[in-house]
Amino acid sequence: MSTTVAQPVSSRLPVFPWDRLEPYKATAAAHPGGIVDLSVGTPVDPVPHIVQRALAGAADSPGYPTVWGTPELRAAITGWAGRRLGADGLTDAHVLPVVGSKELVAWLPTQLGLGAGDKVAYPRLAYPTYEVGARLAGAEAVVYDEPTEPDPAGLRLLWLNSPSNPTGRVLSKDELTRAVAWAREHGVLVFSDECYLELGWDADPVSVLHPDVCGGSYEGIVAVHSLSKRSNLAGYRSAFLLGDPAVLGELLQIRKHGGMMTPAPVQAATVAALGDDAHVARQRERYARRRAALREAFETAGFRVEHSEASLYLWATRDESCWDTVADLSKQGILVAPGDFYGAAGERYVRIAFTATDERVAAAVRRLSS
Ligand SMILES: Cc1ncc(COP(=O)(O)O)c(C=O)c1O
Repeated sequence: MSTTVAQPVSSRLPVFPWDRLEPYKATAAAHPGGIVDLSVGTPVDPVPHIVQRALAGAADSPGYPTVWGTPELRAAITGWAGRRLGADGLTDAHVLPVVGSKELVAWLPTQLGLGAGDKVAYPRLAYPTYEVGARLAGAEAVVYDEPTEPDPAGLRLLWLNSPSNPTGRVLSKDELTRAVAWAREHGVLVFSDECYLELGWDADPVSVLHPDVCGGSYEGIVAVHSLSKRSNLAGYRSAFLLGDPAVLGELLQIRKHGGMMTPAPVQAATVAALGDDAHVARQRERYARRRAALREAFETAGFRVEHSEASLYLWATRDESCWDTVADLSKQGILVAPGDFYGAAGERYVRIAFTATDERVAAAVRRLSS
């Protein structure tokens, strides 16, 4: 009897690009003053004490947590969204915790039952996992410059991402309103990835859940939020969805069967994090200082910064191939991400993260100005 070897699922996925950066990382690491790694947006500052205490206080959690989360967690999420996003009338049915937002982005098309013949659209320059999610489901990945531009035929899921990774671009209230109206007119589900919403610098990012954008109805729209960036909790894996109860109810069923539970201590930590605005303000001040220092240093060194009005990144160019920029900066011990990791349209840009310590940022500034 012969066995049929299925095509490996991984063959559907794009090449994992970070391996290409390794030689430049080695060059940067050989700098006598050590590497300044500005290539990834991973938080480096401490987890707020209030959050650490909540996590430790829930350490004795022998039973299974639930996928939908504790009533305290759901109340913390709706309370935060009312206060911070201006979203009215949210109930527990509008909430679904997820285990960090990356897993959700990667598995959403599959969990929605999308497949061959269905299309998933996302920005031309984007976080790579939107494409991964489409490909894992066997759906067609479609990129757009403006969210109302894709052909709606077969389009089942429209990703918005404001503030954007990698460009830091913020969609205005009008742009969001038009995108939501267009998607509703064509029966396309909108997922709005808003994980950088609390990190606006030259713009005040607005959620799709704001009544001016959604008209006070959550039909056909879901916002994705994460604690990773606003609360330095990337290591905890805590994020959540807010929006259309019909969509979230369906995802809840599937995720219950799939055992996609946020650990109970992390749920408790998330309640503490969402109830405290002071640590978010402190963290914003750190990032604002680092952003200003890096922006000035890169501009003085001949870079032009585009968009970048929010998020944790500067989107910069020296009007040359991104790989030339990466190579040149690596010789100064500075590692940045090549723009083509986020789509071919980024081939003349680099993404500079300001998630490095004050000491490392100061080292980069010194090297760029010498
Ligand atoms: C746009 C965007 N969405 C989602 C994520 C995933 O964040 P997490 O899985 O930590 O919630 C990231 C992480 O960098 C991101 O940039």
